[in-house]
Amino acid sequence: MQKKEITITILEFENDTQLPTGDLNILKEAQQAGEFAYAPYSEFYVGAALRLANGKIIRANNQENVAYPSGLCAERVAVFFASANHPGETIESIAVSCSSEKTGSDKPFSPCGACRQVLAEYEQKQNAPIRIILGGKSGKILISESVKNLLPLVFEADELKK
Ligand code: THU
Repeated sequence: MQKKEITITILEFENDTQLPTGDLNILKEAQQAGEFAYAPYSEFYVGAALRLANGKIIRANNQENVAYPSGLCAERVAVFFASANHPGETIESIAVSCSSEKTGSDKPFSPCGACRQVLAEYEQKQNAPIRIILGGKSGKILISESVKNLLPLVFEADELKK
């Protein structure tokens, strides 16, 4: 038996003053997008903003439903919209921000497993890393330079190939 360690790398910023301009811009877009989330059940408002290689910014947010599993997270609304409307366009980065009166909104938000899996697929498909910027309304910001950091040992399309 061998014990193996997997290392992931995350960049942490105390606040948005030191953030590279491009990251700050889409984080702000994500924060604004969260304000239009449809989240009457959880009251957990999530905004996502994608930057595509052609310079386009896509905004999205979580969409809930009274039949709970029918809703969808902000990240997946964003990447599915991008894939549907800008097929083949590389996703350079995604910023995700949450806001909740109940839990506070001064800390970064961590995407759910299903969203990590979906982001991983687009990263593999485009063969270029997707930068992920995670923040709240204020406070610390975390950045991962690839989806790989968020989903070690990912299940990928190659597993289905002979
Ligand atoms: N949510 C997201 O939008 N993204 C995630 O990565 C996790 C959770 C949404 C789904 C639901 O509308 C609310 O947050 C509470 O789970």
